[in-house]
Amino acid sequence: MRRILVAGNWKMNGSTTQVDALLTGIKQGAAGVQHADLVVCPPFVYLQQVAAQLAGSSIAWGAQTVSKEQAGAFTGEVSAEMLKDFQCRYVIIGHSERRSLYGETDVMVAEKYAAVRKAGLTPILCVGELLAEREAGQTEAVVARQLDAVIALNGIVALADGVIAYEPVWAIGTGKTASPQQAQEVHAFIRSRIAAQDVAVATQVQILYGGSMKPDNAAELLAMPDIDGGLIGGASLKAEDFLAIGRAAPAS
Ligand code: 13P
Repeated sequence: MRRILVAGNWKMNGSTTQVDALLTGIKQGAAGVQHADLVVCPPFVYLQQVAAQLAGSSIAWGAQTVSKEQAGAFTGEVSAEMLKDFQCRYVIIGHSERRSLYGETDVMVAEKYAAVRKAGLTPILCVGELLAEREAGQTEAVVARQLDAVIALNGIVALADGVIAYEPVWAIGTGKTASPQQAQEVHAFIRSRIAAQDVAVATQVQILYGGSMKPDNAAELLAMPDIDGGLIGGASLKAEDFLAIGRAAPAS
């Protein structure tokens, strides 16, 4: 069975003091989370602090984006090898904010996926449609296009090394959540599209839901057969909320 993964995307939030308090709180309550693995994804500048504070704990950590390049004259960029140096296990790839605000294309996301795998880290590949796309009945087409670009460059088997996060853009930071049925439909679509090429990979790959997942809606989302966890924004900045989402994970 696929284990539940609850990952916090802190986005551009935090200070050394806040990070210290948040990690202290999460560590204190982590033992109460029995059926989920926990991951935090801070801004790059706090990775060293996170690595130091979480060393030896059950909580893993990751980054929010990465360069597709390995090293060299790429001002402002951070490579997957550098992230490995800070014991990152995960890297979020292709978040909708990266796609819409920083011009990341499907091809760039696929290249980043390759760079993360090459370094031996686990990509968390974000896919999801805009509100206008959902209203135009294009949800499956958009998600398929985003997924297929990664498969085209990396091969279907490469998805076995990663995690997928379905994040409907209209549900991110808006307080609007996809209903468990709406989310389940898209998760099942993603899994079936992968299964059409490789059933074993489709059975294995964890598909997280992201978009206003909170303590009060986590249990019903996580109860869905194809929802294997959450990628949490706002609620991951409060230790108690993040832990409550983790505790909502059903026993597999
Ligand atoms: P919210 O949980 O704040 O809606 O953010 C979701 C998200 O973008 C996680 O990557």
